[in-house]
Amino acid sequence: MTIPEFQAHKQTGKKLVVVTAYDALFAKIVEQAGIEVILVGDSLGVLVQGEKNTLSVTMRDMRYHTRLVAKATEGALIIADMPFLSYQASNEEAIRNAGRLLRAGATAVKMEGGGPIVERVQAVTQMGIPVMGHLGMTPQSVNQFGGYKVQGKSPHQAETLLAEAKALEQTGACSLVLEAIPLDVARTITQTVAIPTIGIGAGPHCDGQVLVLYDLLGLFDEFVPKFVKPYAHLKTDALQALRQYKEDVEGLAFPSDKESYH
Ligand code: KIV
Repeated sequence: MTIPEFQAHKQTGKKLVVVTAYDALFAKIVEQAGIEVILVGDSLGVLVQGEKNTLSVTMRDMRYHTRLVAKATEGALIIADMPFLSYQASNEEAIRNAGRLLRAGATAVKMEGGGPIVERVQAVTQMGIPVMGHLGMTPQSVNQFGGYKVQGKSPHQAETLLAEAKALEQTGACSLVLEAIPLDVARTITQTVAIPTIGIGAGPHCDGQVLVLYDLLGLFDEFVPKFVKPYAHLKTDALQALRQYKEDVEGLAFPSDKESYH
């Protein structure tokens, strides 16, 4: 999928389906399922690296995982997260680091926040690099929020979100992720901007939805936000399989003649 094809969904009304992936194996499975947009999220800091939040993820990490996903896929649109401190300090750093993610195989990058980040988005898009904005509960600002809390609940916060969405659209963002905000705020933003909104905990009115792959598959159960719907229970299946394997080896049931060479 190309960026213009992705954006055309806003007009057709067909919902956009986005999911995260961090490695070749899962990226292939996602594509085989017919999902055409993959986000290489910095959520990999928590899910792959076992950190408490996304703040320690580096450009090196993001380039590595973007390369793994890009190499494994055939036509999916790959969007790579710009990690914490890779774009905040200056337009120059933002442009250079966004370019590095494109060289690793991404087609677009994602940056969190409004306010001063709007200028970064403009600088990067002016260089021909598509940028997805990210508003609401932006995980790189978790310390400022005092935890992973729903944003945009007060009328003032909702107005700020709407103003930021408009500013990001005007500066050339190709799309917006709206995370953990009330559904009526997400609906107003979606109806106001001409670029597609992709919701995660932002209700059904967005132009598309994104979920973290390991949440969707029921692999990660340490913290399951209200907005997650597990479509499978792979952690339970994995535990069952591993316990059975252990029992079989210890009980001399594996390997049997079937799994042996003659
Ligand atoms: O890092 C990530 O996976 C994300 C999604 C939750 C939108 O930014």
